[in-house]
Amino acid sequence: MDTTKSIEAFEIAKKLMPGGVNSPVRAFQLVGMEPIFISHGKGSKIYDIDGNRYIDYVLSWGPLIHGHADKEVSDALLEAIYRGTSFGLPTLLENKLATLISTRIPSIEKIRMVNSGTEATMSAIRLARGFTGKDMIVKFDGNYHGHSDHLLVKAGSGIATLGLPDSLGVPVEITKHTISIPYNNIEVLKKIFDKYGPQIAAVIVEPFAGNMAGIPANPEFLQAIRSFTTKYGGLFILDEVMTGFRIDYHSAQGLYNIKPDLTCLGKIIGGGMPVGAYGGKKEIMDHIAPEGNIYQAGTLSGNPIAMVAGYTTINKLNHNSYTYIEALADRLIQGLSKAAHTNHIPLKTTKAGTMIGYAFIDHPLQNFDDARKIDAEMFRRFYKEMLKQGILLPPSQYESIFISTAHSIQDIDRTIHAADVAFKRMLSCI
Ligand SMILES: Cc1ncc(COP(=O)(O)O)c(C=O)c1O
Repeated sequence: MDTTKSIEAFEIAKKLMPGGVNSPVRAFQLVGMEPIFISHGKGSKIYDIDGNRYIDYVLSWGPLIHGHADKEVSDALLEAIYRGTSFGLPTLLENKLATLISTRIPSIEKIRMVNSGTEATMSAIRLARGFTGKDMIVKFDGNYHGHSDHLLVKAGSGIATLGLPDSLGVPVEITKHTISIPYNNIEVLKKIFDKYGPQIAAVIVEPFAGNMAGIPANPEFLQAIRSFTTKYGGLFILDEVMTGFRIDYHSAQGLYNIKPDLTCLGKIIGGGMPVGAYGGKKEIMDHIAPEGNIYQAGTLSGNPIAMVAGYTTINKLNHNSYTYIEALADRLIQGLSKAAHTNHIPLKTTKAGTMIGYAFIDHPLQNFDDARKIDAEMFRRFYKEMLKQGILLPPSQYESIFISTAHSIQDIDRTIHAADVAFKRMLSCI
C-alpha cells in the first residue's frame, strides 16, 4: 500500500495544525501510524489521496448511516445550497426536522438545535442545573460527552472520584461538581444518591458506551438511573449523540424502553453536516431563552444546510434499514468471533441493536476498568494488517465501528476474510 502523498500531506499539516489534525484521534497516534488523507467517498468505500480504496467503518465517526455521498442526501444538499447557506432567521426546515425527530423520539416534546454533540451535552447540563437549582452532575467512567469543561473528568477507581479535570486548562472548581462513577454498577449509583441525592442536578449517561469499546448499558442500570433521578428530583439526561437514529429506529430509548427527561443528539441528525441538539419535556425546555432565563444561543444553530442533510438522512431510514444493518452487524461479529477462535486470538464482541463493539481481551466488558485492560498492542497490529488489506477501522481500541445501509454482504465477508488473514499474520510475528 503506497501512502506517499498522505505522508507528505501530514508533514505539511503538522506545521499548520497541532498534531497535524483538527481532532486528536485522527492523528492515528493510538495505532502508531501516520494518518491517511481522504480524497473522497462513495457508499461504503472511502478513497485516500494516493488512490487506495478502503471499506469504511469510521463513517465520519457515525453520522453517515447511508454511507458516503448518498444520492438523495447530496441532491437535497445541492438544492438547499443554491437557496442560501445561512440566514440566521427561522426556516421551515427547522420545523420539519424537529417534527421528524419528535415523532421518532416521543420524549422530545421540544428541541433546540446546536452545532455539535459537545454543545448539546454542555447546554443540557446548564438547563438541568438552571431548572433544578442544583449543581452536582453524575457521569460514568469512560463515557464521553464531548469536551466541555464540566464533563472532562478523569475516570476514577474506587467508589467515586470527586472530579479531577482530565485536561490542563480545566479549573478544579468547575469539575468539583462532577462525580464520575463506574458504568453499569447500580450499587455505587445507589451509594452516591444516598449520600448526595438532593444535590444532584442530573445524571448523564451513554446508553451504549461507544467511546469505551462499545459497552451496552444493562437495562436495569438505566432503569435505576430513571428511578433515582425521579426520587430525588434530578434530571435523567440520555446522551444519544452516537446512538440517536443509529442503534434503533426509535434510538436507544426506544430499544431500552426508557424515558429520559432530556436527550442529547448529534451525528446522524446532521447527516454529515455539523449539528447537535438537545430536547425533552416541554416544561423543562421552556426554561431556555427566550421563553425562560437559561441562556443558550448560536449564530449557525438550525443552519439550513445541516437541517436538510439531517432531515433527508432520517426520513430515508425505515424499519428495514435497521433490520438490514443489524443483520450485517450480526454477520460481522459472528465472522470475527469465529476467525478469532480458530486462530486462538482473545476477542470479545458486544452488541445492542445495530451497534457493535470488539476488543482484544479475554473477559466480558462491563465498565471502564475492563476497557482499560484491552490489549492495545494486539489492537495496533490488527489495525495495521486490516488497513493494508483495505479495511478502515476507527484508529483507537476504544471506538465503536459503524455500518451503513450502503455496506453489502460482500463488504462484510471481505472484512471477515481480512481479519482471518490479519490474525494469522499477528500470530506469525509473536
Ligand atoms: C456520546 C457522545 N456524546 C458527545 C459527543 C461529542 O460530540 P461532538 O464530537 O459532535 O462534539 C460524542 C462524540 O463522539 C459522543 O460520542
